[in-house]
Amino acid sequence: MAKYPSVPLEHYREYPIEEMRQRLNDFYENIDRRRSVREFSSRSVPRDIIETALKVANTAPSGANLQPWHFAVVSGAQTKKKIRAAAEAEEREFYQHRASEEWLAALEPLGTDDSKPFLETAPYLIAVFYRSLDVCPMVARSSITTRVSRPAWLPEC
Ligand SMILES: Cc1cc2nc3c(=O)[nH]c(=O)nc-3n(C[C@H](O)[C@H](O)[C@H](O)COP(=O)(O)O)c2cc1C
Repeated sequence: MAKYPSVPLEHYREYPIEEMRQRLNDFYENIDRRRSVREFSSRSVPRDIIETALKVANTAPSGANLQPWHFAVVSGAQTKKKIRAAAEAEEREFYQHRASEEWLAALEPLGTDDSKPFLETAPYLIAVFYRSLDVCPMVARSSITTRVSRPAWLPEC
């Protein structure tokens, strides 16, 4: 028996060229409608929509399929307030000291600054963490289980 047995790719589908073209055009039209608008609504969002969006993010390929990320979905008012304060402090430092003149000039048309009130009013904040190889504690705590679960070949902890 192979040490790392493979499994059949059951969901793979190959489409006829015309259907492939149509599906690709539809897909392109869809993603081309996405824009970074820098306006944030306070309208509530069903939690399952957030979780499915994270499942989509989790389909991204990663080196050795280690999926070295961890998403934290924040909805608590106190936590959002603390995140806003910390983010604004960091951004003040960035805009006043760290950013080069060239970078500030590139940002100017976007009209961004260190004020981030939306971090308190948006229904959810999604924090993305880089996960190093020492993954076990994060995997154990993860509530998004679909593809973040421990790969079979990683040792249990
Ligand atoms: C790695 C990365 C960092 C970004 N950082 C910021 C940012 O700090 N502030 C911001 O307003 N937009 C940020 N953006 C959004 C880009 O400015 C935006 O994607 C780009 O202007 C193209 O616009 P579009 O998203 O509408 O296609 C970032 C995008 C990427 C990929």
